[in-house]
Amino acid sequence: MSVLDALGGTAAAGTLYGIGVGPGDVRYLTLRAAALIGKVDVIAYFAKRGLVGNARGIVAPLMSPGRHELRLEYPVTDEIPAADPAYQGQIRDFYETSASAISAHLAAGRSVGLLSEGDPFFYGSFMHMWRRLESRHPVEVVPGVTGMSGCWTRANQPITWGDDILTVLPATLDAESLAERLAATDAAVVMKLGRNLAKVRGAIERAGLMSRAIYVERGTMENERVVPLAEVVDDRGPYFSMVIVPGNGRRL
Ligand SMILES: C[S@@+](CC[C@H](N)C(=O)[O-])C[C@H]1O[C@@H](n2cnc3c(N)ncnc32)[C@H](O)[C@@H]1O
Repeated sequence: MSVLDALGGTAAAGTLYGIGVGPGDVRYLTLRAAALIGKVDVIAYFAKRGLVGNARGIVAPLMSPGRHELRLEYPVTDEIPAADPAYQGQIRDFYETSASAISAHLAAGRSVGLLSEGDPFFYGSFMHMWRRLESRHPVEVVPGVTGMSGCWTRANQPITWGDDILTVLPATLDAESLAERLAATDAAVVMKLGRNLAKVRGAIERAGLMSRAIYVERGTMENERVVPLAEVVDDRGPYFSMVIVPGNGRRL
């Protein structure tokens, strides 16, 4: 028996596994995640139309031909703002249909592993399936290394020292709230940059944090980019991008 088989455990019939696959580099998967990817009856994953799917791409080296896969394709992504009722209606319907498709496999006794980039319980789409299914089917969540953890590691920056307070902010907040919250914290992570990059840069500047701010694109993935935010001239970041502001606290 391999170490992975011995330590990673098995998959139970009719169980949904929310599998955290980490920030990008397949070597950062946990033993449990890697074992389940080899053992569940169905590998499920979310994907944008026409793309491989972020989490599915991360585990590609662990997939063998002939696996039963359930691709759950978003009807819309960033073509419509997330606050728009049209977006919310379409996504809600999509989550309902996706949960039904997963539920049908579970009811037939098949184990399903739903891949989730980073950690499933940290801004993960998996949570929308968990909410709909956990009262009806057994669910196990396998934690993953978060994207932010991968990013500050690749930036080679400890994020919090001593009693530093870390604030995690979605870049979708308005400029004023961003600047206020940034000014009130010791260390920060700003996620979901996308088209909000210019606004985030302005808020970091206003909060007086530009000298410590680092921009990380595709942390731990191919084409990773780690640069001081002050050197970034783009107004948009790719989906996988964030700004980190390492804490400056007590160093003994
Ligand atoms: C919907 S959230 C998913 C978070 C994920 N569940 C986690 O644990 O990190 C997606 C956002 O996470 C951030 N992110 C996740 N992984 C990243 C990576 N490897 N490099 C840069 N940003 C990343 C980006 O800001 C992206 O827009």
